[in-house]
Amino acid sequence: MDIARILGKNQQWIAAKLNVDSKFFENLALGQSPEILYIGCSDSRVTAEELMGAQPGEVFILRNIANMVPNTDLSAMSIITYAVTYLKVKHIVVCGHYACGGGKAAMQSEDMGILNPWLRNIRDVYRIHKTELNAISDEELRYDRLVELNVQEQCINVIKTSDVQKAIKERNLTVHGWVFDIKTGKLKDLEIDFDHILEDIREIYRIV
Ligand code: CO
Repeated sequence: MDIARILGKNQQWIAAKLNVDSKFFENLALGQSPEILYIGCSDSRVTAEELMGAQPGEVFILRNIANMVPNTDLSAMSIITYAVTYLKVKHIVVCGHYACGGGKAAMQSEDMGILNPWLRNIRDVYRIHKTELNAISDEELRYDRLVELNVQEQCINVIKTSDVQKAIKERNLTVHGWVFDIKTGKLKDLEIDFDHILEDIREIYRIV
């Protein structure tokens, strides 16, 4: 990727968009009403719009290392509130990906400075599901399962917020857990049974 050529590529992109729809940017400037909030990993191989075939204006996006939703992260909490309460998205997707470097880094005994508290959130996921994960002898499969369980736990973190609880109750907002398989390009719906999980956590996390 030649940095000097990016502005030229941008011109090509503009031309391609206008070729299909001459009012594309005029309409884009009018405002946004995305139906999906997508929370994914910052990994350069795991794009958001491109892998979903989405256009600008269709998806509100949060990306960070290992698609985390820490309960005290101001960025994640602000994005959820803005997307749910103001943009009124219909769906929230947490999308992890196999071979996630964040997950692997979290499993190493290495001092990574400011990354430590961030990655500790993934260590916490491991601790919660230690019995299941330790029973998987193949290291790669164990990491893959950790990626899936991390998605599940981050979905639970999404559901812990009062805005999401309100929207689930009042207008049937839905939360989805997905994993992107880098080796095949496929998006997999983990079909997490949120009703069951919600029932289980309601006792502790119910706010509204
Ligand atoms: Co990742």
